[in-house]
Amino acid sequence: MDFKKYIAARLQAGELTKDEICAMLAQPPNSEMGDFAFPCFRLAKTMRKAPALIAEGIAATYPTDHIVTAAEAAGGYVNFRIDRVFWAKQTLSLILTEREKYGSSKEGQGRVVCIDYSSVNIAKPFHIGHLSTTVLGSALYKLHKFLGYTPVGINHLGDYGTQFGKLISAYKRWGSREEIEKGGLRALNALYVRFHEEAEKDPSLNDEARHFFKNIEDKDPESVQLFEWFKQLTLNDVGKIYEQLDVHFDSWAGESFYNDKMQPVIDELREKGLLKESEGAQIVDLSDYDMPPCIILRSDGASLYATRDIAAAIYRKDTYDFYKCLYVVAYQQNLHFKQFFKVLELMGKPWAKDLVHVAYGMVSLEDGSMSTRKGKVVYLEDVIARCIEKALAIISEKNPSLENKEEIAKTVGVGAVIFGALYNNKIKDITFSYDKVLNFEGETSCYVQYTCARANSVLEKGGHAKDTVPEAVLPQEFEVVKKLAEFPNVLQDALEKYEPCFIARYAVDLAQLYNKFYFDCTILGAEGAVRDFRLALTEATLITLKNALALLGIGVPEKM
Ligand code: ARG
Repeated sequence: MDFKKYIAARLQAGELTKDEICAMLAQPPNSEMGDFAFPCFRLAKTMRKAPALIAEGIAATYPTDHIVTAAEAAGGYVNFRIDRVFWAKQTLSLILTEREKYGSSKEGQGRVVCIDYSSVNIAKPFHIGHLSTTVLGSALYKLHKFLGYTPVGINHLGDYGTQFGKLISAYKRWGSREEIEKGGLRALNALYVRFHEEAEKDPSLNDEARHFFKNIEDKDPESVQLFEWFKQLTLNDVGKIYEQLDVHFDSWAGESFYNDKMQPVIDELREKGLLKESEGAQIVDLSDYDMPPCIILRSDGASLYATRDIAAAIYRKDTYDFYKCLYVVAYQQNLHFKQFFKVLELMGKPWAKDLVHVAYGMVSLEDGSMSTRKGKVVYLEDVIARCIEKALAIISEKNPSLENKEEIAKTVGVGAVIFGALYNNKIKDITFSYDKVLNFEGETSCYVQYTCARANSVLEKGGHAKDTVPEAVLPQEFEVVKKLAEFPNVLQDALEKYEPCFIARYAVDLAQLYNKFYFDCTILGAEGAVRDFRLALTEATLITLKNALALLGIGVPEKM
């Protein structure tokens, strides 16, 4: 039940519409004051009265009933109180009926949302810098699906560019099939690094690389085969990580997919008078918008990253008729997205407004090693493996007799990596710390998972819940109820602002409130309706925490 709507329907406040009132209803800082607060400050002007007086007037005439039991003026606010037993009943019966669907909705029905995320580069290391785009994008994917949208996950592979000529040249000179088969992505990267070292001594290597790149473009069988092999090796390696992180894609159309889809774009730009020549290159001038020009064709006729993105956006609109198209890409590329979004707008595409750059900050490790610096690459695979290893050590120490430790350590370790990347507002730069993400008492996924294991054990001993509510609800119980009821709104908010961190924080908040309740109120030792209610509260918490973590791609072990 939507209490805001319920309150608004019975509230007269100047000229404000019911929808406006609904939107203005906020949460007071604590439950002692009330459950919903209506601020009267905006009304002061039109009603020519002090906010405190307006609040008193509203409070005096508001028709309280068995649901809204009190309306009290405090300062410029009217604080409303909802009947706790009623609220608890409503919330628990909803959660215990909807279960793994609790929080979902159909609001997105019929709307396709393309999400471009992870977008790895062929034969380049999949490093910790790719963590955020991968887990953010995946969480947005799951969230959209949960709210009824049809998400299309796109891995816009970096599979085009002169670097592949270099790789072929290096492979032919110094590589061997066995070594590459065995070493995968790392071996490919080592070849790539070696090429750069050698080319510094012998610049003619660059000509050779150009030659091989041209070979790929001209579809020379040997070069194409090598390239396809490199691509396959990369996809095998990253595929393992995607599996661990529970990340999925519907399309792997990468940069090379647009090779034959750019000419029409270039023609259209020319027809519309948007192309200009500048030092031999073809550009779209964006000086009117305070941006450097968007380069469409280099002087040698080669297309660019932006050209491919323009073609890709048009292709996605044609293919999926998206409602929105999201690009989960680091803020370093802000300008790139602003530029090509603007070019599409200038081309007269009304849907250019539906393209969204979901920008995020950088991840570095505690020891100061950055993600991309040459030679100091931190492979994501290693970060995950180390987290699992550490999780295993912690679990073994805490609970030596636990069965299935390895499996559980995987769920905990992977969860820690994901949660660590998602806990802060996405635009913030973060420092990844193993100890921090695996702190069982911290604001972490293992804390939430541990709370779930606790709830599981309570239910195992106490039996599953009947949703009965006693005569009175204690404050500790009520705080849990309120938090539980908030979940659908949190998801709405997270979707609107593209912030999976709202879900992560919510999970920690709910777990904390549940733990407070758990320590303050006896569950198994209680009797009758009180015991049933506390068991129901426990089960509803478990369901909601599981749903929250699932949206982030994190599982929950039964025991820990
Ligand atoms: N592969 C690119 C990179 O690593 C990211 C691609 C993002 N998506 C896009 N449509 N531009 O920087």
